[in-house]
Amino acid sequence: MTPFVFLLALLGSAVSSVSAKPLLLPRAACTKESLLATADAYVAAQAAGSLDPLASVLAANWTFEENNKVIDPKTSVVATKKLTIDHRRTNTDLVQCATYTELISAADAANPYVIGTQIRHDESGKIVLIDSVASTTGSWLFNAAKTLQYVKQETWDVIPEDKWDAREVIQAAGDAYMDLWSDSTAEDKIPWGRPCRRLEGGAYTGSGREDDSCAVGIPSNHSQLPNTRRRYVIDQSMGSVSILCVWEHMMYAADQHEFRLEGGKLRYVHTMTECGGRTCRL
Ligand SMILES: *[C@@H]1O[C@H](CO)[C@@H](O)[C@H](O)[C@H]1NC(C)=O
Ligand SMILES: *[C@@H]1O[C@H](CO)[C@@H](O)[C@H](O)[C@H]1NC(C)=O
Repeated sequence: MTPFVFLLALLGSAVSSVSAKPLLLPRAACTKESLLATADAYVAAQAAGSLDPLASVLAANWTFEENNKVIDPKTSVVATKKLTIDHRRTNTDLVQCATYTELISAADAANPYVIGTQIRHDESGKIVLIDSVASTTGSWLFNAAKTLQYVKQETWDVIPEDKWDAREVIQAAGDAYMDLWSDSTAEDKIPWGRPCRRLEGGAYTGSGREDDSCAVGIPSNHSQLPNTRRRYVIDQSMGSVSILCVWEHMMYAADQHEFRLEGGKLRYVHTMTECGGRTCRL
């Protein structure tokens, strides 16, 4: 053990013996402001249809993954589609130095997109991975105009710090939901809230009622292929976890599910599912 690692271990045991919490220190270069700045550069790039706005914030060795495939960034939706951004929200994960950004381009009927993008950074705050699901015509229940309409009805306020759920609680709720297809015990592990509204592509379980439910239409067959290769971005101030994964039971699609908890209860689910350029079907 090097002296530095030894010191960290000592510090870790001292802290955990006091608070009994795992030692999760944000990396030095990673602040909410710096994370939002690189997310802004990403959104500017998508609005320009060019990688240029990203140039100064990319690490020397970075990767672009789109719809679960590593691609040449020059062929990405960012570099090839100049989109009018009708909606944008970015969540920050200071522990992992990562962000999740939800983008909707609906007004331009020739280029409808609903995009969910996780961005990961290195120690110096530079981007090492852009990991994106870019849903469009043919994607599961796709309707950008409806997605935009429903998103605008929702309230995703910052949650006061004394009301934050633990990262583990937020992630466990998302994981339990993602296990519904392959685990018959998963449903009982989900902290269902009311009202809860699921925006699945352009379809919505919300009708403005206090008893709106996200349990509508969940799988009854728990012997399906699972949702695998899950990548997480967790923001306690939003009560949210974004999970990118392989949606194995539907054409091995590229999927993004985002969950928001309030006071430990599930309130919102947003989904985007892209089936490799083909039309998604069950
Ligand atoms: C660049 O990053 C990729 C993915 O993290 C890694 O597999 C590869 O070894 C890296 N290449 C260099 C030259 O560091
Ligand atoms: C559940 O899904 C599996 C995998 O697709 C399939 O083999 C099985 O027949 C389904 N069971 C029912 C009851 O539909």
